[in-house]
Order: sequence, then structure tokens, then C-alpha cells
Amino acid sequence: MKNYSKIVSGTMTWGDWGKNLNVKEMTKLIENCFEIGINCFDHADIYGGYTTEFSFGKSFKESQISREKAKFITKCGIQYICEKSNYKVKHYEYSKKHIIDSTEKSLKNLKTDYIDLLLLHRPSPLLNPDDIAEVIEKFKKEGKVISFGVSNFNSNQVDLLSTKNLIEWNQIECSLTEPKYMFDGLLDYSIKNKIKIMAWSPLGSYFKLKNKANYRIKKTLQPLMEKYQASESQILLAWITKHPSKITPIVGSTSIERLKSSVNSFKIEMSTEDWFSLLEARNGFKIP
Ligand SMILES: NC(=O)c1ccc[n+]([C@@H]2O[C@H](COP(=O)([O-])OP(=O)(O)OC[C@H]3O[C@@H](n4cnc5c(N)ncnc54)[C@H](OP(=O)(O)O)[C@@H]3O)[C@@H](O)[C@H]2O)c1
Repeated sequence: MKNYSKIVSGTMTWGDWGKNLNVKEMTKLIENCFEIGINCFDHADIYGGYTTEFSFGKSFKESQISREKAKFITKCGIQYICEKSNYKVKHYEYSKKHIIDSTEKSLKNLKTDYIDLLLLHRPSPLLNPDDIAEVIEKFKKEGKVISFGVSNFNSNQVDLLSTKNLIEWNQIECSLTEPKYMFDGLLDYSIKNKIKIMAWSPLGSYFKLKNKANYRIKKTLQPLMEKYQASESQILLAWITKHPSKITPIVGSTSIERLKSSVNSFKIEMSTEDWFSLLEARNGFKIP
């Protein structure tokens, strides 16, 4: 598999921030991901309080998978308060020194010579496009970063960086319960400028919150499960992937069954009317 798989596996809860998988369990999960057609893993320096990249790197080395077959994504920029840091205020840091140090650490932790995709984790008003351009150029020349992108950036913020860098990806929050970027122009901008989109929390708050909107979605979704012979999460994924920006969902589950069912969600061809019926349920008012 040379390209990014249609589903990316998110590692945020693999370690200290969730399932606390040990090396054996992580290795098995990585191998199982490849068996079902997932070759791409989403990281950030901060995941697990700066510990998950290291555990993943160790586990990947133990696996039977060769590095060239996999895609590693990681992010930098958030200065997160935890045992391994001594910040008093959570903040975003995009100085050249920080980006270089953080990426070098990620390379070391992931036990790899290169990152397939490096993302700036969140936009900052203090970010200097010239600094970013210099660092990314250096990394690309050295072969340490293959592609570059951003995360949680709006279209103006992407535009600012696009004058200096080739932004290939924007990783954003996108789901039926949080579809704001479908309506504020960001996804239109991304199609126009050929910026690829990855969606984090693609299932949104559906399994996390019991609120009126999720109750309405559940009611509308039930007959669709029967119609498309699909699970709730497959319908939720099919809803975002119908968007013409060709969204790549980052699935956070550590269950191989759920990851497999996510891959299979691409078989669903949701009708336009069903798509709008779910949007209407989410909004709580008739489509105008
Ligand atoms: N760039 C950013 O700022 C940013 C922010 C947040 C996350 N991310 C990335 O996005 C990835 C995914 O985020 P996410 O974890 O919020 O995504 P998600 O895939 O929408 O949610 C995963 C959660 O939903 C649960 N779930 C899935 N199917 C379920 C079902 N049928 N019934 C009940 N619960 C179900 C999973 O539980 P189980 O684990 O038990 O299956 C897991 O807790 C992260 O790992 C990270 O890589 C990026």
C-alpha cells in the first residue's frame, strides 16, 4: 500500500490517555490494522502526556510490518501541561527551535528516519509563516518530513501559510454532530485549493453525549441501519465521506472489529435524501 489508506487509525487513546495497551497488544493492533487495509497512524507529540509515540515506535519495531508500507503522521506545537513538562499555562509554540526539537523527538520516539506527514497541531496568532517555511524546507531537504500540513486551521490561516509552503492536508474536527466546516467555507476552500482533509472525532459526540440532538439522530438513523445493512458508526462515517472533499476519517477505536467495520463503511452509498434527513435530525429544524 503506497497511498494513505481510506481510514486512518488514531493513536490518541492507545496508551496513557486511554486503553494503556502494552507493547504486545499494540504490536498486534498494528499488524491487525494492516490485515484490514489500514496503513496510516495518526500521532501527536503530546499523546499520552508525551509517551504514546515512544510506545508505538517500540511496538512497530516488534511488528512484522516494514516501515515503507506504513504512513506515520505526527503533530507539534501544543505545549501541554503534564508530568513530563513544566508549563504553567497550556500554549502553542511555533518557533523554529521548537518545531525542530519536537520533530526530532518524534523521529526518535517513533524509531523512524522520516515522518510521512507533519502537522501544526493548532493555529496560533504568533505563528510566523517565514519561520515555518524555513523549517519545513530544511526537513524536506533532509528527507525527514515527506509532506506538510496543518490541523484545526480555518481557510484564512491555511491561506497565510500557503504563500510559503505546500500545505497538503488539514486535519479538522468533522462529524454529523460537528459539521461546521461544511458550512463556513473551509471545505469549499479545501476543494478549490486541492488541500486534502482528515477528520478527527468522525463519530462526533454520538456515543459520548446523551442530548436531544443525538436522540433525534438516533431515531433517524435506526431505519437507515436496516436499509443499508450497516451499524450506527458506519452510517455516521458514510455521512461525512459523502462530502465531495473526500474526507479521510481518523478512527479512534482500538477495537479491530470497529476499525474493520469503519473500513467497510466505504461500501455504503448513502442517498442524498438520507444525507439531508440526518442533517435535519442533527439541526432540529427543517432544511430551509
Ligand atoms: N488534530 C486534533 O486536534 C485532534 C483532536 C482529537 C483527536 N485527534 C485524532 O483523531 C483520532 C480519533 O478521535 P476520536 O477518538 O475522538 O474519534 P472517534 O473514532 O470519533 O471516537 C472514538 C471513540 O468512540 C467509541 N466508539 C466507536 N464506536 C462505538 C460504538 N459503536 N459504540 C460505542 N462507542 C463507540 C470508541 O470506543 P472504543 O475505543 O471502545 O471502540 C472511542 O472511544 C484520535 O485518536 C487522534 O489521532 C486529533
